[in-house]
Amino acid sequence: MITIRPANEIDAAAIATVHIVAWKETYQGIVPEDFLQNLSIERRTAQWVNSLSDPQNQYHHAFVAELNGQVLGFANYGFSTDTEYRGELFAIYMLKSAQKRGIGRMLVSEVVTGFAGLGVDSMLVWVLKENPARGFYENLGGVFLRETTIEIGGKALLEVAYGWRDLSRFQSG
Ligand SMILES: CC(C)(COP(=O)(O)OP(=O)(O)OC[C@H]1O[C@@H](n2cnc3c(N)ncnc32)[C@H](O)[C@@H]1OP(=O)(O)O)[C@@H](O)C(=O)NCCC(=O)NCCS
Repeated sequence: MITIRPANEIDAAAIATVHIVAWKETYQGIVPEDFLQNLSIERRTAQWVNSLSDPQNQYHHAFVAELNGQVLGFANYGFSTDTEYRGELFAIYMLKSAQKRGIGRMLVSEVVTGFAGLGVDSMLVWVLKENPARGFYENLGGVFLRETTIEIGGKALLEVAYGWRDLSRFQSG
């Protein structure tokens, strides 16, 4: 059975591993290959230890999805710097082998519950324009907001924002 639970610093290495494996699975052909090859589980683990252990850290809040104690995916969320949408889904990654089983949707629902605890009732997410995951956000009712250019590994990439003004659609049921 899939369990969704808040992450803590003990999960840092498992989250970092999923994070990097999923980046490689998702962004091959989109993000420069040498950037993907240089991703380091050790460095990423240290970043996750920092954020998960420090309640003041912008990236402190996360949920993991696990099966039999193995982390299959995670979602990271917190306050947005956007003036209109108060919450931001900073990252959501499932291992390819665990995708399209409803777990991403479960993670987003938990994030929305987490936002309620922070007094946040709207959210946005940024996604690379070339990432098919845009279909996931559209399926969840995200509304296209705007696009911008970001640079990853020396390459300029388009990023698209989707927003939810009202998170009540995610309430359990
Ligand atoms: C995007 C992601 C988190 C979605 O999680 P998931 O567990 O695969 O999605 P779910 O199974 O919960 O899907 C929920 C709904 O969205 C749909 N959906 C999922 N991915 C989709 C896609 N790429 N395009 C269109 N619809 C999609 C599902 O069919 C499902 O629809 P339904 O309930 O009407 O049947 C996951 O696929 C993933 O980690 N992808 C790679 C990493 C990534 O791109 N992350 C986002 C970075 S911004």
